[in-house]
Amino acid sequence: MPEQKPVTEAVADANPDTFTITDNKTGKSWEMPGRTGTMGNRLIDIKSLYGKTGILTYDPGFTSTASCKSDITYIDGANGVLLHRGYPIDELANNSDFMETCYLLLYGDLPTPEQKLDFDGDIKQHTLLHDQITKFYTGFMRSAHPMAIMVGVVGALSAFYHDSMDITDIDERRLAAHRIIAKMPTIGAYAYKYSQGLPFPMPRNDLSYSENLLQMMFSNPAEEYKIDPVLAKAIDRLLILHADHEQNASTSTVRLAGSSGANPYACVASGIASLWGPAHGGANEAVLKMLDEIGSKENIEKFVKKAQDPGDNFRLMGFGHRVYKSYDPRATVMRESCHEVLKVLGINDPKLELAMELERRALEDPYFIEKKLYPNVDFYSGIIMKAMGFPTSMFTVMFAIGRTVGWISHWKEMLVDDEQKIGRPRQLYQGEDKRVYVPIDRRGHTETKTGWGWLWGKKS
Ligand code: CMC
Repeated sequence: MPEQKPVTEAVADANPDTFTITDNKTGKSWEMPGRTGTMGNRLIDIKSLYGKTGILTYDPGFTSTASCKSDITYIDGANGVLLHRGYPIDELANNSDFMETCYLLLYGDLPTPEQKLDFDGDIKQHTLLHDQITKFYTGFMRSAHPMAIMVGVVGALSAFYHDSMDITDIDERRLAAHRIIAKMPTIGAYAYKYSQGLPFPMPRNDLSYSENLLQMMFSNPAEEYKIDPVLAKAIDRLLILHADHEQNASTSTVRLAGSSGANPYACVASGIASLWGPAHGGANEAVLKMLDEIGSKENIEKFVKKAQDPGDNFRLMGFGHRVYKSYDPRATVMRESCHEVLKVLGINDPKLELAMELERRALEDPYFIEKKLYPNVDFYSGIIMKAMGFPTSMFTVMFAIGRTVGWISHWKEMLVDDEQKIGRPRQLYQGEDKRVYVPIDRRGHTETKTGWGWLWGKKS
């Protein structure tokens, strides 16, 4: 068969800053500018493509499309590199603390001691929830998933804080940003307390962000709660490791929601909804469920093969990543942290052993090697949280608490981007051509298309 020529093709010109797009059907060519960032791939700037050519690009899942420019986070997926404002993630996880990392992501530089004190102090001014908001919780079922409660309560903040809704006002934007970061641990911990029928503990501003999170999760008014510094450090590190990850699904959701001028509380609620999915932040919960299902080392082989079966939807949860085609650098730190925490707690968790054996087995399997599927951050985070006593349903909540600063930093950056426009993707229409309306009494039945299944996409 002769080699089929693509209808249009983009070729990098000898001039590295331009590309020539040629329509092979008509022979017409157009020059498109190139873009390069500080690091990373070259890009074709196709902003003017449609206007100049009437041609659209097709890229489901944005696998080849940069939706914005950003200064916040850099990922080199082939080499397992993750930098926040230029700092490697392992250096931040080992030397920084979560508040400092929040400042770095939001404001671009590591804070001076005074800036850190100011920022910390301001966040602490906003840890309490309006008393009326705490009443919302009683409207939820006790069995509600805490992520469902988070989506609702964070979205509802916009019904309370009218003093920080004007996104054109810098002070209101800052107030909303600090407020959301400050309240997330309180909102998350209360979702858990509510499910347990336990009273809501007050935030304690004498504690660090992570210590306070621990005490709101695990203290009860009947006895004194002693904070284990090792656990507080592990939580802090976990939050740092989740703080940002450039244009992932939930961050892109926040940006898309924010691009219409929506208020920051609503934008973050949309990010929480997106994060909840098992292909994204819900994976940490799914990893533990999968390890339970695998049960013991003898069954690993069966599950590794099941994950390769094209007729089976099962995937090894905690493996694979859209960007990393090498070990996720967050997983490396999380793995170390996991061992430390289990050692300190004196826990000999067979799940960790099972996880390590699964990792070993998958990493030597030709399917996982060929597709470059490595453990991601979620593979070990669930084991740490389980060891600390977090219920499985709270794993994604912890991810959301950490990621909030990333969402807010991207929202902040987007608002001052002079190229920012309302997000409005186009589509490849594959539906019916124009049809003539047929009255209902003249429509026949289709024998093969009965029941609801086919209407919802069932194949047979
Ligand atoms: N187990 C088995 N096969 C897999 C897996 C997996 N975990 N992940 C990807 N594949 C296969 C997939 O079937 C596909 O095969 P083929 O080329 O034959 O169709 C190929 O690898 C490429 O997968 P993809 O779905 O096209 O890749 P993607 O970039 O769209 O998806 C992912 C990335 C993370 C959604 C996917 O790897 C996945 O579903 N992993 C399991 C869920 C998970 O751990 N998610 C957490 C991601 S990290 C935390 C976060 O940022 O949220």
